Amino acid sequence: MGGVEGELFLLKDQKGRAFLVRLREGGVFHHHRGAVPHEAIRQAGPGGRVQTHLGEALSVHRPTLEEYVLHMRRSATPTYPKDASAMVTLLDLSPGMRVLEAGTGSGGLTLFLARAVGKEGRVESYERRPQHLAQAQGNVRAFWQVENVRFHPLALEEAELEPEGFHGVALDLMEPWKVLAKAAEALMPDRFLVAYLPNITQVLELVQRAEGLPLRLDRVLEVSWREWEVRLPVAHPRFQQVGHTAFLVAFRKWKDS
Ligand SMILES: C[S@@+](CC[C@H](N)C(=O)[O-])C[C@H]1O[C@@H](n2cnc3c(N)ncnc32)[C@H](O)[C@@H]1O
Repeated sequence: MGGVEGELFLLKDQKGRAFLVRLREGGVFHHHRGAVPHEAIRQAGPGGRVQTHLGEALSVHRPTLEEYVLHMRRSATPTYPKDASAMVTLLDLSPGMRVLEAGTGSGGLTLFLARAVGKEGRVESYERRPQHLAQAQGNVRAFWQVENVRFHPLALEEAELEPEGFHGVALDLMEPWKVLAKAAEALMPDRFLVAYLPNITQVLELVQRAEGLPLRLDRVLEVSWREWEVRLPVAHPRFQQVGHTAFLVAFRKWKDS
């Protein structure tokens, strides 16, 4: 199969269902409406089409980051892509920056951060559960070949961090208040710490625990993402939507006076 072993593709069926496929020599993709050899997928290439032996047409794509995160293997629930991209904006990330992340989980948010800071930048990602970290490392390396992520098998509480060494801090863990003082110390003045929290009670706890730290609450928000079904001449909002995912809480660091 010459050089395509391990290449990632996304197949979409007639109903819009998507399937991630990693090519293997002699491999076969099985859909409930038939099978397709990996070699046929490679030959069709991104933007092409294949047919299963039972006649189901499948379109062939390179997975986008959003598609990849939604379909990759997971040990922990990844940050939803609409929220991960909003976090990149709230963190004001750009190429060359250094970002601190905890917990790594399945590596979904890590990928958004890594792409935003680019090959001159760095993501230092902390995860306390070895099994999650192994999954995240596999997920990140399968999609993103740039070596700008360092994975640390540690709780953030145990990390040795350079004071004011980071342009941003991204937290997606249950009890971010436990690491808030440490993360605030590692953040550069005037830069942002953003936490992803499913429950409003967590948001209130976090805001309360930030009192006394050099962090000013900047914004609390939810990202709504409303998709429409357009089948001309008819158009209406999709009947099934992504509901509540999480609140995003952004703090900005004060300069030490
Ligand atoms: C919801 S998951 C993160 C998902 C991740 N953002 C993604 O996109 O895949 C939360 C993770 O935080 C880890 N975690 C919880 N507390 C932690 C801590 N204090 N330090 C490091 N990791 C922690 C958990 O083990 C879990 O894997």
